[in-house]
Order: sequence, then C-alpha cells, then structure tokens
Amino acid sequence: MKVSIFSAPKILPLAAVGLAAMIVAGCERPPPDSEQRGYRGVGQNAYVNPRILAAQHRANVPPAVQPPAVPVPITAGTVYKNLQVLGDVPLTEFTRLMLALTEWVVPKDQWVAGQGCVYCHDLADMAADTKYQKVVSRSMIQMTQRTNAAWGAHVAPTGVTCYTCHRGNAIPKYVWTTNPGRAASGQGASGQNRLSAVPAFASLPYDPMTTFFDKDTSIVITPATALSPGWNDTINTKKTEWTYALMMYMSRSLGVGCNHCHNSRQFADWSQSQPTRTKGWYAVRQVREMNKAYIWPLNDLLPASRKGPLGDPMRIGCETCHQGINKPLFGEPMLKDYPVLGQPSPVVVPTPEAAPEPAAPAAVQTDAEALDAPGGKVTGEAAVQEGLM
Ligand code: HEC
Ligand code: HEC
Ligand code: HEC
Ligand code: HEC
Repeated sequence: MKVSIFSAPKILPLAAVGLAAMIVAGCERPPPDSEQRGYRGVGQNAYVNPRILAAQHRANVPPAVQPPAVPVPITAGTVYKNLQVLGDVPLTEFTRLMLALTEWVVPKDQWVAGQGCVYCHDLADMAADTKYQKVVSRSMIQMTQRTNAAWGAHVAPTGVTCYTCHRGNAIPKYVWTTNPGRAASGQGASGQNRLSAVPAFASLPYDPMTTFFDKDTSIVITPATALSPGWNDTINTKKTEWTYALMMYMSRSLGVGCNHCHNSRQFADWSQSQPTRTKGWYAVRQVREMNKAYIWPLNDLLPASRKGPLGDPMRIGCETCHQGINKPLFGEPMLKDYPVLGQPSPVVVPTPEAAPEPAAPAAVQTDAEALDAPGGKVTGEAAVQEGLM
C-alpha cells in the first residue's frame, strides 16, 4: 500500500508551523520605539526601529571637514581668469572649496594620479570651460548658494552642500526623469497600475514628480465648502490619486509616516498640522525652482547617458537630499564649515517662469484663512497664488 508523506494529518501541522513562521517574520524586530509628536490621543506618533536607525546613522556620516584656510587679503578673482561666481572669495578659501567639491562629487575611481580635479578641469588650462562637468558645477554652486540664502524656511539651520545630494557620486543616487510608462500596453494612459517604488507600491500614479515638480500643479484636493466652484472641473477623484501619490513619495523620501506633517483626522487643515508640514510646503516650491532655474537650462549640455528615456535631465526630488531621513544627514550642519555656499549668488538667478495667477477660487481662499500653521509662515496670499490645477 502507498503512503504519501503529504497525507492530510501530516501536512496540517506543517502548514501551521509555516504560517506561524511567516507571521513572525512579518514582525519587525526589535519592537519599534514610538515618540508622541502631537496632542495625546490623536495618534500623531512616530515609530522608529532602533536597529534600522542605527544602520541609517552609520550610512549618513558626512566626510571630515577640510582644514580651515589661512586668511589672505587677496580674492581668487584677482589671480584667476575665469571666475564667474567665486571671484570674491579669498584665494585660500577658494582652493579649500575646490578640494571639498572634488571630495564630494568626484568618484574615487575617476581620480587620476591621486587627484580628482581632472573630472571638471582640463589640467593644461584650468580657466577653460571645455568640460561640461565644470559648466554644470558652476550652475550647481549657484543653485546651492541660492537654496541656502533664499530657502531657509525649509533648509535652515542644517543647510545644504554638494555632499547633501552627491555623497561622493558624480550623479546623486536618487534622481528622477519623466517616466513614460508603457503606453503600448495601455499602462501609460492613466499614469498608474505599474509596479513602482515611487508611490510605495500603491496602485497610484507612478510619476507624481513630473506633474507636481515640473509644473506648478496645485496639490489641494479638499473643497472648503459644499459644492465649491471648481469641484468636478479641477478637483475630482482622479486628481486625489495624484496628490496621494505625491504624498506617498514625500513620506518615503523622508522615511516618515503621513502624521509627521499632518493630523490624519483632517489632512487639509493647516491649524491641525505639524510645523513640519509648513517646511514641506516651502520644500515643494524650492524643488520646482531648482529644477526649472538650474537643472533644465543645462539639458543641452548633457551627454545622452545623463538623460531619461524622453531626453530630459535627471532632476531633483525630496529623496535626492533626504535619502530616507527626515533631516538629511540627520541634521549634521555642514554648511557652517563652508560659508561660501551660503552666500547669495552674485550672478542674477534666472527667474523661473512666473506662475500663472488665476482668479482665486473660493475653495482655496477659504482654506487660506486657516493657513496660519503653528510657527508657519505660509501666507494666505501664497496659497491663493497657487491657484488650482
Ligand atoms: C566638480 C567640479 C570641479 C572640480 C572637481 C574642481 N573644480 Fe576647480 N573649478 C570648478 C568651477 C565650476 C570653476 C569656476 C568657478 C567660477 O566660475 O567662479 C573652477 C575654477 C577653478 C580655478 C580657476 C581657473 C581660472 O583661471 O579661472 C582653479 C585654479 C581651480 N578651479 C582649481 C581646481 C583644483 C586644484 C581642483 C582639484 C583639487 C579643482 N579645481 C577641482 C569646478 C571644479
Ligand atoms: C539638490 C541636489 C544637488 C546639489 C546640492 C548639488 N547637485 Fe550636482 N547634480 C544634481 C543632479 C540632480 C545632477 C544631475 C543633473 C545634471 O547633470 O545637471 C547633478 C549633476 C552634477 C554634475 C554632473 C556630473 C556628471 O558626471 O554628469 C556635477 C559635476 C555636479 N552636479 C556638481 C555639483 C557641485 C560641485 C555641487 C555643489 C556646489 C553640486 N553638484 C550640488 C543635484 C545636486
Ligand atoms: C513632509 C510632510 C508631509 C508628509 C509626510 C505628508 N504630507 Fe500631505 N501635505 C503636505 C503639504 C506641504 C501639503 C500641501 C501642499 C500644497 O498645498 O502645496 C499636503 C497636502 C496633502 C493633502 C491635500 C490637502 C488639501 O488641501 O486638499 C492630502 C490629502 C495629504 N497631504 C495627504 C497625505 C497623506 C495621505 C500622507 C501620507 C501618505 C501625507 N499627506 C504625507 C505635507 C506632507
Ligand atoms: C536641497 C536639499 C533638500 C531637498 C531637495 C529637500 N529637502 Fe527637506 N530638508 C532639507 C534640509 C537640509 C532639512 C533640515 C532643516 C533643519 O535643519 O531643520 C530639511 C528638512 C525638511 C523637513 C523638516 C523635517 C523635520 O523633521 O523637522 C521637511 C518636512 C522637509 N524637509 C520636506 C521636504 C520635502 C517634502 C521635499 C520635497 C518636496 C524636500 N524636503 C526636499 C533639504 C532638502
């Protein structure tokens, strides 16, 4: 007589053990710590896993600071021929900055004979602008200065250096280009239903960045009054999905839950939101400016290997700086050691396209009155200028 080892009485306990193992494996170890971030009872808690946090701390250590420069009375501009941005910087501080840029941006395998200057420079003529990397860097220096000088409402006190994004790589690890989807298979049309880490694998649009960072598309989806004008035309279920996709992306980029910024009982209400949401509001506008004013204008210079499938440049998103941490590099203030990168850029910043200012719809106007977020500087005027999609 044949006896199967998989007979029912034997397989059941086996299955039970397997199931138990799966359930236990699904638990995080050790149990996460929770920190209360809002009023008691409203569930505004942050959960962190001490094990993952320790690994993140190890992975987010800034490099050693370059030794301070010996002060000299002459500026770099009096010695060098082609300084369009850094001419006013003291000569020794200029050299110190060149050393730092090299360490922050040039991968070690690109160094030649023990130095990385060659990644941006033609060593026979340091003043020449023959390498696109040098021209891009000039714009990057201006972008970094502008960010620190003008967007303090988001990046202060930590501030930003090249290292915040680059971390020793020529191209930062987390950049994005427009995702054309697979239109042929019908998956491109709605911009969703394609497995993607961007909205944290939710069935939401997979490219909210092009929609919200390339364009000044409004993120607001909550009508402030019943039968608000604009409902159906501009605010509808489809648009809700786009806003949620962006929010998933933002949460993932910062390694936080929604209630790091919101009170989830009322997502739209600023008076119940965390001050961090105000920082996020500025962050969205800052990212738009960085891409429009500094990255897009470089596109013609870039080789094809630096572009997306549609020939667009690799752009900045929340993840580019944050890399899964609520404050990049855990708030380690590198800027204080390189004050040149905090100076307003002496070159006129190309003005980003003026945002269209449609007549303020009632929905946003009413919301705007409640925009006095705690510690927030978001003004009603700013929200109204946002307009609707
Ligand atoms: C990531 C790109 C990059 C790297 C790496 C780099 N530089 Fe530069 N360098 C620049 C840029 C951009 C300028 C022009 C700045 C301006 O226009 O104000 C410049 C300008 C200079 C100049 C002025 C040349 C002139 O006459 O106008 C010198 C000298 C210089 N760099 C030296 C160095 C040295 C030495 C190294 C290596 C330790 C180095 N650079 C590494 C981007 C770089
Ligand atoms: C906010 C993020 C961010 C900061 C800060 C930043 N960069 Fe970049 N950088 C990018 C992105 C995105 C790209 C890719 C797009 C491009 O090439 O224009 C890039 C590209 C570059 C490239 C081209 C590299 C290549 O091989 O194609 C150079 C060089 C560069 N950055 C230098 C710098 C320097 C120098 C600084 C500091 C003064 C700096 N970056 C600061 C985001 C940043
Ligand atoms: C880093 C802070 C931050 C995180 C995390 C975050 N949000 Fe937001 N959220 C914002 C900001 C800022 C706005 C307003 C943007 C604007 O109007 O330009 C917003 C707007 C919204 C809105 C639209 C409100 C309205 O006015 O109609 C909804 C809904 C929303 N968030 C849901 C979520 C959800 C769900 C999550 C988690 C998946 C989340 N948010 C995570 C900052 C955040
Ligand atoms: C150019 C780099 C950069 C980019 C890009 C960036 N951030 Fe930040 N962000 C920072 C820095 C630096 C800080 C730390 C400021 C501080 O010291 O409080 C910060 C802080 C924040 C905080 C406060 C966190 C806290 O717990 O206090 C929020 C919220 C935030 N950013 C949201 C965003 C969002 C949303 C995006 C994308 C739309 C974004 N950031 C893109 C650099 C950046």
